[in-house]
Amino acid sequence: TRSYKIALIKGDGIGPEIIEEAVKVLDAVSYAEGFELKYDEYLLGGAAIDATDDPAPKETLEGVKQADAVLFGAIGGEKWDNLPREKRPETGLLKLRKEMEVFANIRPVTVYNELVNASTLKPSVVQGVDLIVVRELIGGIYFGQPRGNDGNKAFNTMVYSKPEIERIARVAFDIAMKRSKRVCSVDKANVLDVSQLWRDTVEEIAKEYPEVTLTHMYVDNAAMQLIRDPKQFDVILTGNIFGDILSDEASMLSGSIGLLPSASIGEKFGLYEPIHGSAPDIAGQGIANPIATIASAAMMLRYALNEEVAAGRIEQAIKQTLSEGYRTQDLSSYDAKEVCSTSEIGSIIANYAASK
Ligand code: NAD
Ligand code: IPM
Ligand code: MN
Repeated sequence: TRSYKIALIKGDGIGPEIIEEAVKVLDAVSYAEGFELKYDEYLLGGAAIDATDDPAPKETLEGVKQADAVLFGAIGGEKWDNLPREKRPETGLLKLRKEMEVFANIRPVTVYNELVNASTLKPSVVQGVDLIVVRELIGGIYFGQPRGNDGNKAFNTMVYSKPEIERIARVAFDIAMKRSKRVCSVDKANVLDVSQLWRDTVEEIAKEYPEVTLTHMYVDNAAMQLIRDPKQFDVILTGNIFGDILSDEASMLSGSIGLLPSASIGEKFGLYEPIHGSAPDIAGQGIANPIATIASAAMMLRYALNEEVAAGRIEQAIKQTLSEGYRTQDLSSYDAKEVCSTSEIGSIIANYAASK
């Protein structure tokens, strides 16, 4: 039988709660499809600091490379917010992404028909939205040198090299080729030199994809257009910090940030993670929405393990759960038949995913 090694990183806050549900669903679907998943747990973020004094222990950075894929919850929390930067949970996550060389963060934004009323925007604006943010993940201002803060002056550097832009642009164009063949590259080329190189380089790569229509948009306008008329977008290609911000914004088209999954991929490894954080404000209450993580697990089955049927089963089960009116609290204001806990939603999705 097919057997795969999954590295699990639960992390902090709601991380353990949502990973538990994703594992529940993965176990149900792998049993139904006749393959085997073996899990190894690794520490990252606050949990790793508490146990080892290091937010990204060597054991984690090396261990994940032995796995076929990594499924990650979320890290961070107030407890660790005042530690020096190198000891902070967020630094651990950035180190992991860098070590795995997962330069492309793919964040699909799907608006489920069942949830058009859950968005804060009008149903007519969000119904049918289906876009993908392709975010560069291991460069830009997050990693640029020099950086520093002496208490009086602080600075970061936004830097991209041409090869870094070329490889993320190709990911976006390849995705667009399988969709409606439109890429909108988002930058701030009217002000930033790094964005001018970004724009020029994306134009060059576009020549390799004559069938794809490329447009450019300044990031401030893009933030507005996402709310004004999100259906104009198919693939949004952008850098690290703009992609971080725009994807959280885009999550509200779907109704909740608790719905959006992501795949962080590179040449060798894949890290599958919800786009949201550790949600300290609701941690431990059993009310977090596990769907973003469960949908990330589906992306993992599809891209890392080539288990397309199992991935489809999970996605179908999520839709069925929503159309039956089962909702976690974040989505409970409209069309909810029953408000469910994190683990109830996980069990319902697991049951649907296992039966065909
Ligand atoms: P957040 O995404 O954790 O939470 C923002 C808001 O969305 C909160 O009100 C939260 O309750 C809600 N929310 C998030 N996920 C939810 C879910 N699955 N179900 C229901 N509601 C959900 O962002 P934040 O509050 O800015 O950050 C909290 C901590 O998480 C910080 O330490 C931050 O650095 C960290 N963070 C980590 C990641 C990650 O691990 N990938 C991502 C973002 C933020
Ligand atoms: C995310 C998070 C991270 C990021 C933080 C926690 C480092 O916001 O995964 O979107 O900015 O990439
Ligand atoms: Mn973010």
